[in-house]
Amino acid sequence: MRANDMNEKDLIKEAFEAQKKSISPYSKFRVGAALETEDGKIYYGANIENAAYSVTVCAERTALFTALLQGERKFKRIAVVSDSQTITAPCGACRQALNEFCDADFEVIMANKNGEYEIKTLGELLPYGFKGENLE
Ligand code: THU
Repeated sequence: MRANDMNEKDLIKEAFEAQKKSISPYSKFRVGAALETEDGKIYYGANIENAAYSVTVCAERTALFTALLQGERKFKRIAVVSDSQTITAPCGACRQALNEFCDADFEVIMANKNGEYEIKTLGELLPYGFKGENLE
C-alpha cells in the first residue's frame, strides 16, 4: 500500500511492524516509528539501546536518519508506538531532530499499545524550536 492511501491507523500499524525490530534489552521498552515522506514513502525506525545508556537512539531518530540517508528531505508525518498504556510522545531530543528537517505542521501521531492515538503538530510539541535560521 502506498502511504498516500493510508490513514492514521494504517501508519500506526506500520509503526507496530517497526517496533518488532526494537533492540531494547535494558529498558525493555520497545518503541516503533513509521515516518511518511511527502511523496508517500514510509521509513521505519525502532529504538536501539546500548550498555552505555546515553548512546541509545530513539525510534523516531532511527526512522528520520534512515530516511535522510536515502536522500529524503520532505516529510509529512510520523507514527510512534510502544507497549505502554499511555501514548508515546517523542522525547525532547527527537523533537529537536525532527524540527531540523520538518515544518511546524508536520504531524506526530502518538499511539498507545492498543492503537489509540492523539495527533499533534511538531509546532505544538516544540513551540519556539531552534533552527538553522536562528544562527543567522
Ligand atoms: N524511546 C524512544 O525510542 N522514543 C520515545 O519517544 C521515547 C523513548 C526509547 C529510548 C529508550 O530505548 C527507551 O525508549 C526508554 O526510554
